[in-house]
This record gives sequence, structure tokens and C-alpha cells, in this order.
Amino acid sequence: MSVIIDGKELAKKIREDLAKEVVEIKKNGINPKLAVIMVGDDKASKVYVKNKSKACEEVGIEYEEYLLKDNIEMEELLKIIDKLNNDKTVHGILLQSPIPKHLNIKEAFNRIDYKKDVDGFHPINVGKLTIGEDAFISCTPFGVIKMLEHYNIPTEGKNAVIIGRSNIVGKPLIQCLLNKNATVTICHSKTKNIEEITKKADILIAAIGVPKFVKENMVKEGAVVIDVGINRNEEGKLVGDTDFDNIKDKASYITPVPGGVGPMTIAMLMNNVVKASKNLKR
Ligand code: GUN
Repeated sequence: MSVIIDGKELAKKIREDLAKEVVEIKKNGINPKLAVIMVGDDKASKVYVKNKSKACEEVGIEYEEYLLKDNIEMEELLKIIDKLNNDKTVHGILLQSPIPKHLNIKEAFNRIDYKKDVDGFHPINVGKLTIGEDAFISCTPFGVIKMLEHYNIPTEGKNAVIIGRSNIVGKPLIQCLLNKNATVTICHSKTKNIEEITKKADILIAAIGVPKFVKENMVKEGAVVIDVGINRNEEGKLVGDTDFDNIKDKASYITPVPGGVGPMTIAMLMNNVVKASKNLKR
């Protein structure tokens, strides 16, 4: 019998706890504020941004949105980031990706003051996480770790296998799991005999963006399976990177899609904005 990890419920609890904390910090004159920059009108980004603004409202975080035309010049985008970096009332800055191809996304992300980098994408935060210093942690990996902790899933000495090596999910997850004393293996598109590796996983995390990539024969009996994927199938239905229906009875714990990792990402973003406001003390 496997446990279906309820990310929706846990994320709600995290938001409620943060809302209580925000009431307290506001008494000390700190008014947490998130500024979100979106360039162009990517359909999926619009949904993500709307969900972020809703979560801010729920938690009591002030929310400011910059909707920029898709033909904006790089210089103009950097000017807006600089303005927000210097604005003492803004604690968190988030540049929604993707942005149009003529813009340099790395340069834009790196321009965000690392103290306001609530996405945890800035090289300083990535470096701090790597050497075990206090850092903003990328929200999805952070959410995965919170789930494991909440369900008391042990990591120490466990074989954790991550599929996918993105800068946003796979790579920071290596560090997060290492910090929790797991033995970490990362697989990617060039990995040979991937099922030989995944079958040894006590904790298997799929973050590749390929619908139902992880099949039942790739999973060890009793493994913990975390699905980071958010894909749309031919019918427009949301599906993860794992074949949930055929794996769920084999896994000890498993996350569904939707209602698993997705809501946790936004909850951890809220957590990071509150943390930024406390760090900046204003
Ligand atoms: N686009 C999709 N997910 C994310 C995210 O977590 N942060 C940013 N900045 N852009 C995204």
C-alpha cells in the first residue's frame, strides 16, 4: 500500500503558517513585497504568474507586476531590474522565464541582487548552497525536500537518483540531498542503461519533462517516487514524468500530478520572499 503524498495540502499548511508569520513581522514594520517581471505573453507563464499573485494575497505579501512588451531591449530590462534592486520596499524579484530569445536570460538573472533572488537562480546563491551556507534555494527542489521532511522519509545513507540535470531542479537537488546525507546519482539524456540505475533508487526523482518517462520496470519495490514533471498530453490533460497508475502500488510513497510538487514550488517561493524580507529588515 503506497502513500500518495499530498502536495496541495502541505503547501496550504505552509502558506497558512507563513501568513501567521507575516502578521507578526508586519508589527515590526516589515512589509514583504514580491516584484514579478514577465516579458511577452507566454500562455503557461501567465497561469504561473497568476498563481503566484494569488498565493501572495493569501499569505499577505504585497505583489507588484511588470508586464513588458516582447520587443523590449535588454538595456531596458536591466534598467527595470536595477530599479527594483534599489527599491527598499521590494524584497523579492522574480523574472518569469521563458523570455524572448533576443534577450540574454543569464545576464538578466545575474543582474538581480542575490539578496532578493527568491528563485535561488543567482550564482552566489547556487554557490552558497553548494558549500552549505545559508542561501535562497530554488523553489522546486526546496519543495521536494520539504515534502520528504514532512512525511518523515529518511534520506541519510539512502540511494537518491535524480533524472534530469537542469539548473533549476536537477542540479540544486543534488546539493539538497547531499546536505541530507543521501548518496546521490544523477541521470540524463546521455546516461546508458538508465533503468539499471533507477532500479537501485530508494528515492527516485523524475525531472526531465518527458510524459510518463519512468515506467514500472524502472522502479524498485518500496521506492519513494517524486514526480517533478508537468506535461500536457494529447488531450490537454496534465501528466507527470512517471507512469503514476502503474507505479503507485509498487512505490512506498509517490507524488501525483497535479497536486504533488507543483503547489509546493509556489509555497516555497512565498517562504523565500518572507525570508528575504527578514534578512533585509525593512
Ligand atoms: N518559469 C517556470 N517556472 C519558473 C520559476 O520557478 N521561476 C521563474 N523565474 N520562471 C519560471
